[in-house]
Amino acid sequence: MTDKKTKQKLEAIKTQALADFSKYVNPQKARVLKNAGLDIIEGKREGAAVWDITGEKYIDCITSAGSFNVGRRNPEIVETLKKALDEFDLGSFIVCSKQKADLAKKLAEITPGDLQYVTYGSGGGEANDFAIKLARGFTMKTEVISTIKAYHGHTGFSLAAIGRDEYKKPFYPMVPGFKHVPYNDLKAMTDAVTEDTAAIMIEPVQGEGGIYPATGDYLKGLRALCDTNDIVLIFDEIQTGFGRTGKMFCCEHTGVVPDILTVAKSLGGNLYPISATIYREELNDFVMKYPFTHLSTFGGSDLGCIVGLAAIDYLIKNKVPDHAAAMGERFQKSFDGLLKKYPDLLIEVRRMGLMMGLQFTNDSIGPRMSYQLAQNGVMAIYTGNDPSVMRLMPVLEIQPNEVDFVIEALYTSMSEVIKQGGIEKY
Ligand SMILES: Cc1ncc(COP(=O)(O)O)c(C=O)c1O
Repeated sequence: MTDKKTKQKLEAIKTQALADFSKYVNPQKARVLKNAGLDIIEGKREGAAVWDITGEKYIDCITSAGSFNVGRRNPEIVETLKKALDEFDLGSFIVCSKQKADLAKKLAEITPGDLQYVTYGSGGGEANDFAIKLARGFTMKTEVISTIKAYHGHTGFSLAAIGRDEYKKPFYPMVPGFKHVPYNDLKAMTDAVTEDTAAIMIEPVQGEGGIYPATGDYLKGLRALCDTNDIVLIFDEIQTGFGRTGKMFCCEHTGVVPDILTVAKSLGGNLYPISATIYREELNDFVMKYPFTHLSTFGGSDLGCIVGLAAIDYLIKNKVPDHAAAMGERFQKSFDGLLKKYPDLLIEVRRMGLMMGLQFTNDSIGPRMSYQLAQNGVMAIYTGNDPSVMRLMPVLEIQPNEVDFVIEALYTSMSEVIKQGGIEKY
């Protein structure tokens, strides 16, 4: 077949896939993605890049919101999974397994402080659900305080903890006992605490909320508040974990150790779903009383644990968090130039490692920038709870030339958006 014919065939497959997605999965989602220039059907994936099946190459700055820290189809982890499939399956969730034990031991070793016990799940929402259940069960109190614009997943308890009403309203009543206060506001949190507060739940960098890093004083203040009032401190590191912020876990930047730390996304090496709720020995008192307090058929499957262990080993062996920190610095240098050149469009850049948020002047800019960036070879999307913020979260082993490519695309896309007009602040 000629190249032209092959291209036509692939175009036809793409058109059909988009039409079927629209007809059988979610037409509104398909429309939103098209408007943002992200009507892409992923084909080849490698390192920091993904190719649309028609052959267009993109640097992936979406990475499923921090799920692809080890890169797209990391060859070492692909090999590990292939080998594992020759011998293993999911395993029985009822019995003990070496794989579950090995990964739990590794998680206990690499998480800070005395975080030790692990309960597995298959996704982030589930990990947070269990964190909240554990906090309530352990303290025998009911209230959970999280933050406005927080994102903790779409499952039961986690949904109640989300700080955005649009996700929750159609399903009221939510699980009762949840309160939301402004992020990075220690006084608001302190004022919200009552005798019935079981847990404070926080993302160390608010991801979907618009990439807001917590200040060190805030996290230290939360730790003290929890210690004084017998409250369980939960850090949701589902986006920030596994090197994303330049350290293996974001909380290492401040040395504040939570009572429960939740992880998911990149634990699965972008190849196999797995999540974990990791908690201090003290909280294990509750699990000793109720050992079957959280059951999950697919949670902590043998294959998931094998992949999780391989992903962690890869991150450590290759000093990936350090690389992320260095590439973050490289981005930062150019952000300063962008801020100077486009002050009417770009107000601020918030960043920790390779978790980056570009704060634009209004809500319409996020989707428009997604569109322009896609035209310029970068896949990026605005944050879920704030469309005025462009989130950039590439794979952690992005190379200097790829960073420069993304920067170039940002310059080009911003000047295109400015030419189109309508960037006034509102
Ligand atoms: C901070 C945070 N918590 C929880 C979740 C939910 O994870 P999952 O989609 O695996 O349920 C996400 C997903 O984006 C997240 O970013």
